Amino acid sequence: MTSHHSSPVNSGTNLDPWFGHYAARAAGLSASEVRALFAVASRPEVVSLAGGMPFVSALPSELIRQSFERVMTESGPQALQYGSGQGTPELREQILEIMALEGIRGSVDDVVVTTGSQQGLDLVTKLFINPGDVVLAEAPSYVGAIGVFRSYQAEISQITMDEFGLIPAALCERITALKSVGKTIKFLYTIPNFHNPAGVTLTWERRLEILEICRSESILVLEDNPYGLLYFDGPPPQAMRSVETEGVVYLGSFSKTLAPGFRIGWALAPHAIREKLILANESAILSPSSFSQFVVSEYLRSSDWKAQINTFRGVYRERRDAMLAALDENLPDLRWTVPSGGFYVWVTLPEQIDSKSMLPRAVKELVAYTPGTAFFAHGEGRQSMRLSFCYPTTDAIRLGIRRLSSVINGERELLNTFALTGSFASIRGNDKVTTPPPNVN
Ligand SMILES: Cc1ncc(COP(=O)(O)O)c(C=O)c1O
Repeated sequence: MTSHHSSPVNSGTNLDPWFGHYAARAAGLSASEVRALFAVASRPEVVSLAGGMPFVSALPSELIRQSFERVMTESGPQALQYGSGQGTPELREQILEIMALEGIRGSVDDVVVTTGSQQGLDLVTKLFINPGDVVLAEAPSYVGAIGVFRSYQAEISQITMDEFGLIPAALCERITALKSVGKTIKFLYTIPNFHNPAGVTLTWERRLEILEICRSESILVLEDNPYGLLYFDGPPPQAMRSVETEGVVYLGSFSKTLAPGFRIGWALAPHAIREKLILANESAILSPSSFSQFVVSEYLRSSDWKAQINTFRGVYRERRDAMLAALDENLPDLRWTVPSGGFYVWVTLPEQIDSKSMLPRAVKELVAYTPGTAFFAHGEGRQSMRLSFCYPTTDAIRLGIRRLSSVINGERELLNTFALTGSFASIRGNDKVTTPPPNVN
């Protein structure tokens, strides 16, 4: 196959015989930093503070095995068969019970089971986004969502947060600015609880304000809530969906409260959107895994799943405490967020330290993290990093933070040395992004 270099599409490389044939949307598919990291950081000697893998070893594996067995004994042929594109009625009922814990009342008819909430993100984006439409999101935002939005050629506009979450006034300003240049804003993507990667929680007052802003501007809210039940102190404010039914599509998941291997998530959507979501789901995957749904249902029916979530809370709380204490001890002059649930701490580095270019040195010192740049659509975030405390033990977390502090301190010394000789700018100039380029994909 010959390459057609005149094609406007430039994804892939000249070594790829199909270079030039890809659809424009394929240009949005790039290997994320997180993905490249998984390969390196999975070496046993590296303490990985990079991935967001839940600690599934804390699950009662015997109960899960019994659920598998009971499904095979009692409903084998159904569990091994194709199912409905919307998901099984039993699981959808159970999902309603789970959402009720966060103040949500809905109808079993309006729940659509998906292959992880990642697929919910994909379906909603597919339904709403034409190339060039704007998706509003927090700055920073979940790397996997940014990937989906890019792949549908959305323009991603990220809005400032502080320790109380997304800032409503900044949202208003951005909407006005985008409208003034004729942009079409389709939805606001938000992670209100124990944000990935920022670790912060949106206050109740701001939830109401943001809903009001979006209602008055006819902007749909996509509320992504995989971590809400993993709180350490008290429950977070109730879901945005608990007070707004027509303007919110809510995404939930069993990945963090049970196990990601089942790949079961869900969307709760207003009636009209729900209808389209089911059709889109059928067209993408025919039906979510019957087997996974049966096993998850059986597990929820036969076990004390709330107690299990409580066990997870205890494990993650202890790890969060270990990480915060280690940061206090080893890197007291840095700034970081204090999460009251979830998996992540967001660390702000001293000025001029670049988390992306420092990463290879960190991995050499046997500690990995996710550079802030992964969570921005346009290259920002170099002065930040995400640290995950979900997977490593408390001892590993302490060791990891000690290693990280020696890497950061080494970097500081290097910077001081070059600052003295005045050659810092020329050495680092190439990797430093001060003004974000307009659209880096
Ligand atoms: C904020 C957020 N949304 C969605 C997902 C996707 O989760 P899953 O597809 O496993 O439900 C993740 C996973 O890390 C996440 O952090």
